[in-house]
Amino acid sequence: MKRDATLIPPAQIQAQLDHCQAVAELNARQTQPPLAFVDTYGCQQNEADSERLRGWLAQMGYGFTGSEEEAAIIVINTCAIREHAEQRVFGNVGALVHVKRRHPEQLICLCGCMAQQPHAAQKLRESYRHVDLVFGPQALWKFPEMVHTLLTQRGRVFSVEEEPGSIAEGIPVVRQDKIKAWVSIMYGCNNFCSYCIVPYVRGRERSRNPEDILAEVRQLVEEGYKDITLLGQNVNSYGKDLEKPMDFSDLLEAVNAVPGDFLIRFMTSHPKDTTQKLFKTMARCEKVAPVLHLPFQSGNDRVLQVMNRRHTQAEYLEKIRALRALIPDIVLTSDIIVGFPGETTEEFEDTLKVLEEVRFDALFTFIYSPRQGTPAAQMDDPMPRKQKLINFNRLITLQDSISEEKHSAYVGKTMRCLIDGLSGIGPYNLLARTPGNRLIRVAGDSSALGQFLNVRVTGATKWSLLGEPV
Ligand code: SAH
Ligand code: SF4
Ligand code: F3S
Repeated sequence: MKRDATLIPPAQIQAQLDHCQAVAELNARQTQPPLAFVDTYGCQQNEADSERLRGWLAQMGYGFTGSEEEAAIIVINTCAIREHAEQRVFGNVGALVHVKRRHPEQLICLCGCMAQQPHAAQKLRESYRHVDLVFGPQALWKFPEMVHTLLTQRGRVFSVEEEPGSIAEGIPVVRQDKIKAWVSIMYGCNNFCSYCIVPYVRGRERSRNPEDILAEVRQLVEEGYKDITLLGQNVNSYGKDLEKPMDFSDLLEAVNAVPGDFLIRFMTSHPKDTTQKLFKTMARCEKVAPVLHLPFQSGNDRVLQVMNRRHTQAEYLEKIRALRALIPDIVLTSDIIVGFPGETTEEFEDTLKVLEEVRFDALFTFIYSPRQGTPAAQMDDPMPRKQKLINFNRLITLQDSISEEKHSAYVGKTMRCLIDGLSGIGPYNLLARTPGNRLIRVAGDSSALGQFLNVRVTGATKWSLLGEPV
């Protein structure tokens, strides 16, 4: 991939800032600053995108509100990963018809992964006529221009053409948190796992230049951020498309060298691309949190092959062993799909075997959901949903007992935890994270927010830990 085709030229970003200025001038004529309501579905990548959308909105002179009723502009950033996510969006967007009837001047915008699917865009075009603007993730950088068009001309705007995607630097950002921050290091995905919609809606894999990533991290650390998560659909293939190739381990090393007291996390890793070099880098870099989210989806080799995951159960387990040899207390989490087309209960039991063998700290578990346009959606899927649910529940029951056992093992230990929120319940009113990102509720007062404290774990449930500062 040629880099200059990928990077949006700075002059085009400047043109968007000019559109912001023009919209801000229109907004300044109102008696009160108009407000924006932003709603986000889906993964951290979408959360990060919404922080950019808020950045654009702030430049355009909008304030923010949590109420759809008060909003002059509503932005819904959607997800398409499973059918349930899509249905929720259609339900909520459908209900906005009533809000808009009361406020005919209101602009309703729908963006994100769902908007990029042809069938969804068509449904919005035909049956959701109160939606004014629809655009996919690849068009986020031209949001100001589209809003400007809507405010000055009548009609609707759709920007959902299929494109490989680009990289836009210099988009303003309004972050939602003062302690934790997302930093996208790459966009898109080239893996085409047979069940997954992401490569179709997020375009091809493209890596940000390391200088831009490091500048963003430095600034965040200067602003006092303590917990920085590097984001990408498959961070382990970072850098393959850069002019001066650099791999993810090199990037991690460079981020670790940024001065300051902060934690580095990253997600998601793909087992086929995780290397011994990565594990060694994690072990050596003191700021890199001792946690790895490594989705394996299924424990059965035939299913893995049909999923196009390009690794086997044995290869996965070998990587876990190699990692544990270097970082014995590594916290491990994973994603699993139950009920992939054609998976038998016997094959599903291989997934349980992997759970027993690895003993993950936590799991994100999903029942397979067919996505239009993916190869798996065309495959025979004879297992009744009832059986899929039975299998799913076996998985949850097994993992619950493992999580509980893992959590009890923390009791009595002292760990350096980051206080990152307020629970508002009982004496354990601080929310914190262990180095491995497990949730722990800590007794203490709110002045500790944003600090690292040494915490002794005093109790555990299968979901979280309790602790006291020492
Ligand atoms: N890029 C990441 C995951 C992105 S999606 C990775 O490769 O690990 C997050 C998770 O959603 C996936 O790991 C998978 O477990 C699940 N998922 C994706 N498509 C799905 C589908 N069609 N049905 C059910 N779960 C799905
Ligand atoms: Fe989807 Fe696979 Fe890409 Fe992850 S690696 S986003 S599961 S295609
Ligand atoms: Fe959903 Fe798009 Fe993320 S489909 S999970 S918001 S990449």
